[in-house]
Amino acid sequence: MTPTHDDPSPEGAPPSRVSLAYANLLGPAMDSGGGVDPLRLAPGGDLDARFAEALGVFHEREAAGELGFVALPGDAEARDTVQELADSFGQWFEDLVVVGIGGSTLGGRALADALLGSHWNDRTPDEREHYPRIHFLENPDPDTVTALLARVDPRTTLFNVISKSGSTAETMALFLVIEEAVEAAVGPEKARGHFLFTTDPEDGVLRRLARERGIPALSVPPAVGGRFSVLSPVGLLPAAVGGVDLAELLGGAGDMLGRCRSPRLAENPAGLLAVLLHAADRELGAPIHVMMPYADRLRSLALWFQQLWAESLGKARRTDGTSAGTGPTPLAALGAVDQHSLLQLFMEGPADKVVIFLRVVEAGVSVTIPRRHPAEPALAYLGGHTLESLLEAERRATAEALRVAGRLSATLELSRLDARTLGGVFMLFQVATVLAGALYGVNPLDQPGVEAGKGFTYGLLGREGSTAPTLRDEDEGGFRA
Ligand code: PA5
Repeated sequence: MTPTHDDPSPEGAPPSRVSLAYANLLGPAMDSGGGVDPLRLAPGGDLDARFAEALGVFHEREAAGELGFVALPGDAEARDTVQELADSFGQWFEDLVVVGIGGSTLGGRALADALLGSHWNDRTPDEREHYPRIHFLENPDPDTVTALLARVDPRTTLFNVISKSGSTAETMALFLVIEEAVEAAVGPEKARGHFLFTTDPEDGVLRRLARERGIPALSVPPAVGGRFSVLSPVGLLPAAVGGVDLAELLGGAGDMLGRCRSPRLAENPAGLLAVLLHAADRELGAPIHVMMPYADRLRSLALWFQQLWAESLGKARRTDGTSAGTGPTPLAALGAVDQHSLLQLFMEGPADKVVIFLRVVEAGVSVTIPRRHPAEPALAYLGGHTLESLLEAERRATAEALRVAGRLSATLELSRLDARTLGGVFMLFQVATVLAGALYGVNPLDQPGVEAGKGFTYGLLGREGSTAPTLRDEDEGGFRA
């Protein structure tokens, strides 16, 4: 068993793009004696057997039509519909505002940040090759909404309102505020030409309004849940409006899905991630799973992972009805910035974390640090290195320091930050999540806790048919300073 899982890249196939280095999760690497015994992962080992069972559950769920996300890479019709809309309607505007929350925006934002690059919205139209600026409006914070509506011109802005259910209070409230602002700017007749909905194919208020008013609407397939929707029109539309190559993105996801179907654990990166992270939580006392990319463009990907892992695995009940109260705690961090913030805790605080580093091998842009101030030791040694080699040295140093301190880590290497690689990463973590759900014995596809919170909000705000919860007075007992 090799502790690195590489893309096998058969002859003629594109070069290796995503590989998982997991030696620092295994016993032999950990001087302190922690880590997983590699023999447990080998054929005949108990973790290999657990993986086989989890893969069986994956297949059952897929056969039952529950895993809509696995069909997305092959859904050429959805891809072409999105592409057509993005190339025509999407390009008439100077700004695209994506309105939604949770799974409706985290994937799209991760895609845009990773593939369009830093400061996209600050670039000139020429620098953006005339693709629109793209904004994500998620929180119904009056400050943010007011500032954004003052910044974009409603007459040249398209609002992509995304809600699978068409009922999430935050998104619906933002829609109402925006609709009024757009109507005030362009008149009620023209206003509908500034909206594009992404929602359930049949149900919900957005679908109804789309039908009644002739507003274009994309569909989220029924078996695709919010946090598994990044490769559906939810994430594809904003990506395509920004010029991302959808065929490459979905092609990379499809390739990765093939790898993640392998029954051989040593060749299945999703299986390895799921089995090792589950064992870290349940056996090695490491329930906190930190995703730490060393690339600013992947910061939002870590936030996407945080939601995927948390909302899928944090469950009160197992699928067999027994009470669980289980689930790892994901945490998004950024290297090297959080070396100066969280790392002290990771190194010397409770040994309850696994750090999953994300490394981009070919940075794409290179900046050489100039050789200046040769007499200043604090500056001279940096001259001649590149910023990307500095970042990688920091990552390597951090991984090694964690290892020496007996702290678990793994590294996911992305050969470069392009659509194909990113499609693979999205698919990898989605399959790993379903496998992890099986290992924890929970349903990774539902979110009863989120629904309960939504129900309380409806009740408090007086939505018809909902019941207001009785709130305990927060001042009860007089505790207020
Ligand atoms: O992943 C999920 O299911 C949730 O995070 C939803 O995406 C989120 O609650 C928004 O739901 P909707 O798209 O129905 O507005």
